[in-house]
Formats: sequence, C-alpha cells, structure tokens
Amino acid sequence: MSISDQSLEEIKARIEIEEVVSDFLSLKRKGQNLWACCPFHDEKTPSFSVSPAKGIFKCFGCGKAGDAIEFVKEIEGLDYLEAMKFLGKKYGVELEEEPPTPEDLARQSQRESLFIVLNFAKEYFQKLLWEHEQGRAIGLSYFKERGYPEKVIKIFELGYSLEAWDALRKAALEQGYQQKLLVEAGLVVEKEEKAYDRFRGRVIFPIHNITGKVIAFGARTLNSQKGPKYLNSPETDVYQKSKVLYGLYQGRTAIRQEDNCYLVEGYTDVISMHLSGVPNVVASSGTSLTEDQIKLIKRYTNNITVLFDGDTAGIKASLRGIDMILSSGANVRVVEFPQGEDPDSYATKLGTTEFKDFLNYQVADFITYKTQLFLREAHDDPFKRVQTIKEVVLSISKIPDPLQRAVYMKKCSGLLDIDESLLIGELNKLQLKTSRQGVPPPTLRTEDLTELTKERISRNPNDAITHQESESIRLLLNYGNSKLDDDMFLHQYFFQELADVEFKTPKYQTILELLHTCVKEQGRVDAQILLERSQGAVKLEIINLLSDKYEISSQWMDKFQIYVPQEKEILSDVAYSNLLRLKYRVIKKLIDENRAELKQVEAQDQQQKLLQVDFELKKSRNELAKLLGIVVSD
Ligand code: CTP
Ligand code: MN
Repeated sequence: MSISDQSLEEIKARIEIEEVVSDFLSLKRKGQNLWACCPFHDEKTPSFSVSPAKGIFKCFGCGKAGDAIEFVKEIEGLDYLEAMKFLGKKYGVELEEEPPTPEDLARQSQRESLFIVLNFAKEYFQKLLWEHEQGRAIGLSYFKERGYPEKVIKIFELGYSLEAWDALRKAALEQGYQQKLLVEAGLVVEKEEKAYDRFRGRVIFPIHNITGKVIAFGARTLNSQKGPKYLNSPETDVYQKSKVLYGLYQGRTAIRQEDNCYLVEGYTDVISMHLSGVPNVVASSGTSLTEDQIKLIKRYTNNITVLFDGDTAGIKASLRGIDMILSSGANVRVVEFPQGEDPDSYATKLGTTEFKDFLNYQVADFITYKTQLFLREAHDDPFKRVQTIKEVVLSISKIPDPLQRAVYMKKCSGLLDIDESLLIGELNKLQLKTSRQGVPPPTLRTEDLTELTKERISRNPNDAITHQESESIRLLLNYGNSKLDDDMFLHQYFFQELADVEFKTPKYQTILELLHTCVKEQGRVDAQILLERSQGAVKLEIINLLSDKYEISSQWMDKFQIYVPQEKEILSDVAYSNLLRLKYRVIKKLIDENRAELKQVEAQDQQQKLLQVDFELKKSRNELAKLLGIVVSD
C-alpha cells in the first residue's frame, strides 16, 4: 500500500533533522553544527556532523551524508516508504494510505503467483532427486560424488530435472497452474506452438532471495555433450540478477557472526566452502559485483574478502570492480588461489582445517595485494612502475575514510619505495580533479619556469599581490583546520599549492613560515602557538587577521530575510579562488616587469630570452584567467 502524496508532503514539512538524529545519537553543539560519533563506522572522536540549517548530516570520516530521510533509511535499514512511515509516526502525521490501484493488485498477485509456482517447481525437482529412480541414479549420485552430504543438499534445496521434454510442464498443468505463468516464471519455453521445459536432465540449484523464497534456478548438465554447462532462469518480475547473491540466505547468519563475507564466483564454490566449514560466503554469479549487491552484503558486514582463482588474466579483469567495493567504504581483502585452483576445487582438496588455515594465512588487504601484483609485473621497467603508482593511488583515492587513506599511503610508499609526499601529491591531484569538475587548479612550481622567470619571482611585489597574500594568511589562520569539500584540510591544500611560492611581503612570508612549522609539528594550525612565537608587527598582523571583521551581523540578515552564505560554508570556493587570484596577480606583475626590461635590452639573444619568458607567463596567465572568468586582451 502506498502513502498519499499529501501525507508525504506533510511529513517532509515537519522534519527537523536534529530531532530525528537525536533519537539515535547524543549530539553536541559546536559552532553552527551538531556533532557525534558516527553510527555508520567505528570511531572514537566525533566526525559525524548535523547541520540543522541545511537539514543534512555528513560524516567526515566515512563520507556518509544525506538528509533526515536518508538517515532513517540507513540507520534502520528501511526503504523510502518505510522510512516515511517511521517519520510519520514520530511526528504524529496521520498516514492516508491510498487504496491499492488495480495495477498494484495485479502486480502484487502476479509476484505472489510467481513465488508459488517457483516453490512448486523447487519441491518437484527435490522430489525427483530424492525419490525418482532416474533422479537418484543420476542426480543424487552426482552430488554424492562431489562429496555433498545429505544435510547440505537439503540446506541448498538442490534438485533434479528429468531427461524429458515437458515433465515439469505436465505436472504443473495437472496441479492447475496456467501455462502462461510457467512461461513468465522462466520454467517453460514456448516456441512456435510448442512448449517445453527449460531445464531437462540437469541437477538444479535453486536461487533464494533473503527471505528464503526461491526466485530462480541454475541448472548444471551432467552430460558435456548436451548444451551449455550451466543454464539459468531468465530475469523475471521476481528475479533481477544484479540484485541477488547466491548463498546469502544460507550464509547471512554466519556473515553477521564472523563479520566477514567471502565473495566467490559460483554455486559450487559456495557449497564447497560450506562443506569446509566456511559458510559466510556468497557468489555474484559470474559477473563482477554490482552496487546493489554490495548494499546487500553491507546489511550484514562491512568486511568483504574476494577470492580469486589462480589465473592472472582473470584477476586483472576483476580489479576495477573492486574499486567500487572500496568506494562503498567496505574493508576489502583478497585471497589468491594457486594456479588452476578455484575455491571449490581447493576446498575439496584441502579439507576443513587446512582450507581455513589457507584462507587465514593467505589473506591480504586489497591495496597491498594490488600493489604487489603490479610490482611483480613491472620489475625494473620505469614506465610500468609509473603505471603501478597511478593504479595504486587511484584505488586508494576511492576509499572514503581519510584516515584509512593515510595509512595506505604510508604503507604503499614503503612497498613502492617512493617518497610518501609524491604519492600524496598524486592523490591530491586526483581528488581535486574529481571535486572541481575536472578542472585541476594549475600548480605554479618554480621548476616549471625558466631560470630567468625564477629570478623575477624574487623581486618586490605590488599592492594587489600583498592583498592576496594577506587573504591567504587570513584564511589559513581562521580556517586552516577546516575541511574542504574533498575532505582535505585547508592547510593541506594551501601548503600543497604554495609549495614553492615565496610571499613577497616580508611579514606575510614570516607568518607563512610560522604556520608551516606549526602544522609540521602539531598537524594543525594553532593560533596560540603562533602568537607565542611572534612579536612586534608580525604579532599585531596575526591578531588583526584573526579577528573576523568580515562577519555580517545575523540580525541584519534576519531583518531583511536574506541569506548570505557565511565564508565558512563556502570555504572550498573561497580558498580555491584566493589561490588562483594570488597566482594571477603574481604572473601579471611578472609580465609587466618582464616587458619593461624587454624595452631596455639591446642584444638580440637577450631579447629572445625575454620574449620566451613573456610567452610562458602569458600562457599561465591565460589559463588562470579562464578559470577566474577574467577576459584578457593580449
Ligand atoms: N558457472 C556458470 N556458467 C558456466 C560455468 C560456470 O554459471 N557456464 C559458474 C557456476 O556457478 C559454477 C562456477 O561458475 O558453480 C564454477 O564453474 P565450474 O568450475 O566450471 O563449474 P563446476 O560445476 O564446478 O564444474 P567442474 O566440476 O568441472 O569444476
Ligand atoms: Mn568447479
């Protein structure tokens, strides 16, 4: 039954995110926002924030964010309508439930009918396996040969389909099922007047949804001459391949208890792992995991261990898919099997104890595994090593938790034998790229410019530059420890961008150096330390810039009913454009100076050099102007 639009609107109008969240967490106010330890990941210091003004929550640790409805969905594991019902109850809004439309009823009864006929088929296949002469002789003895005990055959509800054209169809029609329904359930195939069973002479693996209802079948031939090895049900109203995991129903309790889910390829892998005492396993049915499937697993655990067959080409093809698991915030580990073995064959070969030992001994976190896999291939080929670094950093960039990213950066810098700051630079580049719609801010590093240009940078500045420098310092002092959109601290962003830039105004250069030392020592901007370490004009300037004269009175805003975003709320943009403007001004000044000098020199080769500098500077200036939306004439 659905809720009327009017009721939904009424609930939405009443929602106050702070009230909704505080039913679950105890929130502490700090500035404009409220804070708590994040309920969606494990942490000891609060990085989960709620903004009552914006009606949203965001965790700076794991990256989860959304509105109040999203919060209820996540924390209670509800879908949209269920969450709205929950909120309706909280706010005492009478839910006007709309009577189901005839289409609703039809769809509902269609689904019900499908479940019923699929269940009939499952029982029919099971009966054949256990009781029919052919089923026992061929099907049951095959499973026994594979080493499946009766208990496991029953848990997975395995069955057998007779070697006949339409045994199931006939049995079902006799029971009063319509042929149309059998076709819709994928059990019977109609072809030019004829109708026959889809599965014939095969052992049957029923596929269950998480409530244990059968929604489809996989069927394996026992005769290699007869068609494909496995036949599967087509997609139906109750079976969408991308939203189902084989084994989840049977494994869900173990997955929760073990707090880990093994991911394998197919039916036989899942069953053999159950036999070897590892029931916390699911199969994605051949394809790489979809987002819906990841969500399903994450209802039970945040730890996913992917098992790879021992074949390098197959592994490489799967790696991209794993980046998606990383983005979901799950911890991803991998186990690689020896050449030619899959989880099914190896579990059978090793037996319970040894197989479990193998898994525990062989498991590696995904980032480390991927790094080593690429390094093995790269040897000393510098081109391949660069490729390796980019690949690894790309995967790390998908991890939403900045702390986890930092740990991996450190570890990989060791494995790759490359300076950590280089890796971080590469990572920041990637992140800025995605966060600023593919426009990375141009980095002005001195090594990009010629000797002569470098010399110019050391000359005296003009006022416009001084202003931008003072702005940079002001932002660093007031918001250095704030996070930007892409989860980077503002101080990280500034020091990365200003890596080789020296401020022209001596007092700002002094403060910049003080800030740099402070961040290096403390990991953060600490105004108290800066004041202790400075004196005279420098100290005065710090105090000046720290007192926020830019704040607009909120009374004034209320009075005129206008919303002016606070600088803090648009910090990413402020920081970004401040740096761009600073660079733009520096370059403009350099161009002017260079041109003045050009007028004075006589020697041809000197002129040539200066013209080259002019050309370089103009190129950078134009790039910056484009980003700033400034029109330049020459
Ligand atoms: N699989 C599939 N379709 C195929 C081949 C394999 O869906 N054509 C899936 C099945 O889920 C199967 C798993 O991949 O359980 C492993 O494949 P494979 O080892 O070929 O199947 P087995 O039935 O284990 O065959 P064998 O006894 O030859 O190992
Ligand atoms: Mn196999």
